[in-house]
Amino acid sequence: MIAEISSRADKAAQWLSDRWQARPRFGIILGTGSGLLADEIQTDAAFDYGEIPGFPVSTALGHKGRLVCGNLAGQPVVAMQGRFHLYEGYDVDLATLPVHVMHRIGVKTLFISNAAGGVSPRFGCGEIMLIRSFVDFMYRSTPSLAGKVSNSRPISRSDSALDASLIELALEIGRSEGMALQQGTYASLLGPNYETRAEYRFLRRIGADVVGMSTVPEIAVAAALGMRVLGLSIVTNVAKPDVLESTSGEEVIDSAKIAAPNLKRLVEKMIETISRLR
Ligand code: HPA
Repeated sequence: MIAEISSRADKAAQWLSDRWQARPRFGIILGTGSGLLADEIQTDAAFDYGEIPGFPVSTALGHKGRLVCGNLAGQPVVAMQGRFHLYEGYDVDLATLPVHVMHRIGVKTLFISNAAGGVSPRFGCGEIMLIRSFVDFMYRSTPSLAGKVSNSRPISRSDSALDASLIELALEIGRSEGMALQQGTYASLLGPNYETRAEYRFLRRIGADVVGMSTVPEIAVAAALGMRVLGLSIVTNVAKPDVLESTSGEEVIDSAKIAAPNLKRLVEKMIETISRLR
């Protein structure tokens, strides 16, 4: 398995480098409904996942399924428009293959966005939460990491990839741009269902601020590969455990659209600032 993922990642990276010669230092994984940021990229090339050797194909609601290569804030970036979820049936190695590919073509800083349910009563729909830490309820997030780590040996669950200096920079930009940013803990569940009221209540009690169905495997792989990560959750629905109301996919997509302009501005400013500081 380890060798297979490694050789798939090599092939995909080689295929990509043959078609796009830039070496992007920044990667972006776009979650549900956040296509606006992808539209802002001055595109050199875009590839449907189906075209890229070794890539799985995304089928999730609101996801396009293509790799966008181009420039954002004057810097080369590679962005996944649509990601692979474990609930689609991919194992954790396959779902995180694009992170390996991004690493191979030069990415050092990865922005990972997602749509998430707000569990903290402090949060409102359309707000952005910077991920400070996570609780992993997927129980599948020890990927083989393409030969770096063996599955038979425990690894540190480094949420240290969630770089504190990136969070500080995001907060600073948020302040100067008049953008209210939240911070907190992301709980990852396998999905694909949203939670019951009892489950939302449970998640709130154990200290989660938002809940989603992605991101943690990608953070784990990025950490093992030595990349810096900024995790961004868009609060797309607010769990009200005591109200008889259930979450719908449409509600999630509509709320994500409210946050999209802020997400775009934040990531652009971050890239601009990091490049200037370098
Ligand atoms: N639960 C899990 N995943 C989600 C939710 C939710 O309430 N909203 C958006 N993604």
